[in-house]
Formats: sequence, C-alpha cells, structure tokens
Amino acid sequence: MAERLSGKVAIVTGGAHGIGRAIAERFGAEGATVVVSDINAEGAEAVARGIEGAGGKAIAVPTDVSQKASVDHLYDETLERFGTVDVVVNSAGLVNTERHFLEGDEAWWDAIHGVNLKGTFLSGLRAANFMARHGGGVIINVSSGGATRAHRGNAAYDATKGGVEALTRAMAVDLAPYGIRVNALIPGSINTSGMTPETKQERGKAIPMGRVGEPEDMTGAAVFLASDDAGYVTGQMVAVDGGILAAMRSPAADIFPLSKYPDVSRQDGEPARRQERNG
Ligand SMILES: NC(=O)c1ccc[n+]([C@@H]2O[C@H](COP(=O)([O-])OP(=O)(O)OC[C@H]3O[C@@H](n4cnc5c(N)ncnc54)[C@H](O)[C@@H]3O)[C@@H](O)[C@H]2O)c1
Repeated sequence: MAERLSGKVAIVTGGAHGIGRAIAERFGAEGATVVVSDINAEGAEAVARGIEGAGGKAIAVPTDVSQKASVDHLYDETLERFGTVDVVVNSAGLVNTERHFLEGDEAWWDAIHGVNLKGTFLSGLRAANFMARHGGGVIINVSSGGATRAHRGNAAYDATKGGVEALTRAMAVDLAPYGIRVNALIPGSINTSGMTPETKQERGKAIPMGRVGEPEDMTGAAVFLASDDAGYVTGQMVAVDGGILAAMRSPAADIFPLSKYPDVSRQDGEPARRQERNG
C-alpha cells in the first residue's frame, strides 16, 4: 500500500507511550518524518530509534507541554532540523487522575489542566503560527468520552477534555481561512496501561463492539485526519471507541465505584451517601 504521509513532518506529543506512541510509529510507517515529543526523554528516544529501525525517519525531543519554554524548544528544534511542520498530534496527557470531587484541591486541578488543556493550547499556538505563514497544516487534539459523559471521580480530567473539544472547534473556525484543519480524536477504553486479561474481558462486556481498544486501533483515524483524504474535515470530534459513546453506560464507571466515594458524615447523623446499587 502506498505511504499516505510521505514528505510530511509530524510532531507527536506524548509519543513515548500509549496512543501517542502508536500514532508516532504508524506515521513513521506511512512515510512521515516524526518528531517524538514526551516528558519521558528515554521513552521518546526509544520510540524514535524504533521508527528508524523499521526504516522510517524520526528524532526525539524531550518536552514538558505544560511549560511554554519547553514547547518553544520543541518547535524551534523541529524547524531547525526539518524546516517545516505539517502535522501535529497533541496526545500528551495526564491519565490516572481519579479523585472524588469532595476531595479535589487546587493542585490536582492545576496539574491536570496544565498538561491536558494548557499543553494542547501551547502546542497548537506554536503549530498554528507556523502553519498560517506556510500554507497550512493539520492539528489533531486528543479528547476523551469524559468531555461529554462524566467519568466517576474525574471532574478535573473531564473538565480538561471538555475544554479540549471547545478549543478544537474554536481553533478550527479561527484557522480555517489559513488552510489549517483542526480535529480531535476521542479514544474509547484503550489498553495503554497493560490491562490484565480479566480487566480487558470485564470492560469489554460494557462496550458494544465487545472489547477494549488497543493503541493501534487509534492509528487509522489519525492517519485519515492527517491526510488529504480529510481535506474538507475540520472542527470534528472523531470517536474511536467501539461504540461506547453511542451506548448508555461507560465501562470506566467501574474504575471509580461508589464504594470509593468518601465517607463523610452528615450533621444529622444520617449516612451522607447512597449505597452502591448497580456498580
Ligand atoms: N487510554 C485511554 O483509554 C484514553 C481514553 C480517552 C482519552 N485518552 C487520552 O489519550 C491521550 C494519551 O493517553 P494514553 O492512554 O496513551 O496515556 P499514556 O500515559 O500511555 O501516554 C501519555 C504520554 O504523555 C506523556 N506526558 C505526560 N505528561 C506530559 C507532559 N507534561 N509533557 C509531555 N508529555 C507528557 C507521558 O509521559 C506518556 O508518554 C491522553 O490525552 C488521554 O487523556 C486516553
């Protein structure tokens, strides 16, 4: 099959692991020159070497997307090495952020927003400012089903993803006249943390397609959005989730069962929260 991204330079943040890694590797196989960006420098280097080992072209640039100076370095380095950037995937994100709302605090909120939402903004800002002056490009953000259907115990994370979707639409509208397309992927329950076979089976039961996703499941939609086949697609959220959002119940409910809700006491001595009913 012909390579679909040959000649393109692509930055993938969060490229050392999980969804970002799978997309970086697939982009490399599709002929793109890949800049693997991650706060995990060693991991990013290993992914870049893997892409080169498979016959592709890649470099690693250690980046903390929550810090403007670090994002500036990522883009400066990319432009110095390759002279352009055509595609950016903003997959860097803090996951495993569960905390009940009653136990939330400012540091929890700020840390998650710094990476998931501000990081997406900072990277998009540098990308757009280059692309607008050089004939356009493609930006792909990474949202979550939590943007529109609440996870239990994940208010800060879900708020960042709602922000990512609003930001994606706003960027798409502002940047369309400059030939820049901006879309977002909505991953379903993707096995990026090495789920046990039991966990996969249990979560799979609540997913219409009957299984959790693997990181590679995300890559076809990413290639499509990055390619000229999506030349008239902008401002869209593309769910790659085996049908989760189309159905009534998220399997992630099980990650934070009611039994983990804080046991606060009411002043009148009544139990403050309802008992678990159906998980
Ligand atoms: N896995 C899922 O089921 C799922 C579902 C919905 C959305 N998502 C989203 O997909 C994206 C990727 O998630 P994943 O499951 O692949 O997670 P992951 O933990 O496997 O990968 C995330 C990567 O981001 C990097 N990272 C973290 N903080 C960073 C920072 N400050 N600067 C740069 N890099 C940083 C990590 O080092 C890691 O390599 C996230 O935005 C996540 O919210 C994942």
